[in-house]
Amino acid sequence: MCGIFGYVGTRTAEPLLLEGLRTLEYRGYDSAGIYVPEYGAVKAVGPIDALAAKLTEPVPGTSGIAHTRWATHGEPTEANAHPHQDMSGGVWLVHNGIVENYQELRDGLKMQGVSFTSETDTEVLVKLIGTLYKGDIADAVTNALAQVRGAYGLAVMSPREPDRIVVARMGSPIVLGLGTDGNFVASDPSALLAHTKDVIYLDDGELAVITADSHAVRTISTAEQREKRPERIEWDVEAMKKDGFAHYMEKEIFEAPQVIENTLRGRLITEKGRAKLGGMESVLDELSRLNRLQLVGCGSAYYASEVGRYWLEEYAGLPVEVELASEYRYKRNLPDTKSALLAVSQSGETADTRACIQKAKEHDLTTLGVVNAVGSTIARETDAGVYNHAGPEIAVASTKAFISQLTVFALLTLLIGRSRDMTQADGQAIARALEELPGVLQSVLKQAPKLQQVAERYADYRDTIFIGRKFHTPIAHEGALKLKEVAYIHAEGYAGGELKHGPIAMLDEQFPVIAMAPQDDVYEKMVSNIAEVKARKAPVLAFVSEGDTEVAQLVDDVIELPRVHPLVQPIVSTVPLHLLAYYVGIAKGYDVDKPRNLAKSVTVE
Ligand code: AGP
Repeated sequence: MCGIFGYVGTRTAEPLLLEGLRTLEYRGYDSAGIYVPEYGAVKAVGPIDALAAKLTEPVPGTSGIAHTRWATHGEPTEANAHPHQDMSGGVWLVHNGIVENYQELRDGLKMQGVSFTSETDTEVLVKLIGTLYKGDIADAVTNALAQVRGAYGLAVMSPREPDRIVVARMGSPIVLGLGTDGNFVASDPSALLAHTKDVIYLDDGELAVITADSHAVRTISTAEQREKRPERIEWDVEAMKKDGFAHYMEKEIFEAPQVIENTLRGRLITEKGRAKLGGMESVLDELSRLNRLQLVGCGSAYYASEVGRYWLEEYAGLPVEVELASEYRYKRNLPDTKSALLAVSQSGETADTRACIQKAKEHDLTTLGVVNAVGSTIARETDAGVYNHAGPEIAVASTKAFISQLTVFALLTLLIGRSRDMTQADGQAIARALEELPGVLQSVLKQAPKLQQVAERYADYRDTIFIGRKFHTPIAHEGALKLKEVAYIHAEGYAGGELKHGPIAMLDEQFPVIAMAPQDDVYEKMVSNIAEVKARKAPVLAFVSEGDTEVAQLVDDVIELPRVHPLVQPIVSTVPLHLLAYYVGIAKGYDVDKPRNLAKSVTVE
């Protein structure tokens, strides 16, 4: 999504602004721009390099704001790129989010003789501020926002007040970075890491004014001063680098063992077969008495939730419903006070998922979150929750965060299960399996070269179908999603039992099937599926348990995976599917870290 970066201090601003935008590139964008009061604005369509190429002379000035735009209202053009200015050029603004009543505001401004050069809602915002500017940019922003409905994270400057940046947040993240030679603002803390680890997250409805050596936070509606405690973010810039891997996606797949260790750290009580989740302490009693738990998420977060449902029902005896966030938010939900809503989101900013939390609150449901991005909106809007501690996930295709989400669901299964009817022995078996998982995944990752060879054999098919059963049905869907995302191949995930109800009609020599067939309680059924598929001459790549020779004789390619506790088997199966998609995408020469048309965090509907 769009990215915001700003600086005011003692250093030359322009290089800092460009560097800040580069760290935000992964969020997906199609144009960019900067504004420095002593110089003016420069904007460009395309990558940051196109913007940098326009900055052919030294840019004076020690303050400025910058933006990467992912088009929502209006095409990706220079006119629509941010920053936008008001009529007099006395106000410049960059904005994330959507002004819902922009047409109404635009009509009102036109009546005052204001004209417009772009199709964007952002231009309406800056021109509204411009009409209200009487010499204090913070007051003008405050008065303008009183008329605005919608979601925004914005940064505003005026050439008449070059030593101040005004930021405001309603639904789209804004974080302050407290530096030693100036202060920063950004829409994502990762853009601040090169300069400071001391940050302040704005809450919805807050506005801040920063200068080279000060910051003041207040409420937009009442201008009440807010004392905000700075937080220290532990992710360092190194964590953002690729550590020698070719792509962030590859790096993040290989981080899986470490991610599981980080997700589990301090949360397993193996000798008691229990889990401890500090962020859930306040709702523990309620969780043990729930009639049912509702899970929502999008994309991979949804598939992780589907796996979580199987586990919570199978091992914790807790009825669970899983809904796509984009469906849950619009459908009629039958409120049940003995239920709770758990939202799963890596970014913690996905608009559809956030809307579900608001809807659950309207029904007086307890809202929970499983979130990776510390301080993100979902993390702050839910009553309780669990941080993944997976570290920054840069590649658009979610891999390590997905692995971490499954690990959190395993911890939740232990936590809730042991407060219901799970025995200590069963809990201990699961806890031990989780403790051993990082080592197991290290051994799976050693098969990467073999997976790359196999992937190259499947790279030229146009269609494929992934099949699994029970815990592996959502994994089939996740494997298909990854192949869609990074290799642009039409891939579907299906429950194996559904093949004969239609999809098998598609199969032929040009339609490979990827079969998840560990030796679990539905293994025989999967073997039958594979036989059905081979009878239609479709190529089959099967993922089986170590030592399984039966399936190997039936299929074209086979990858053997370690035998583990059935609960953690889906986590083991996921890593090779992520690698498969990665290597197919590489074989096809695509940008696997930033696939076309996709953004890392979908903060608009
Ligand atoms: C997964 O690889 C995709 N990038 C996408 O489906 C993602 O999982 C989805 O947009 C949800 O994002 P979130 O976890 O940040 O809410």
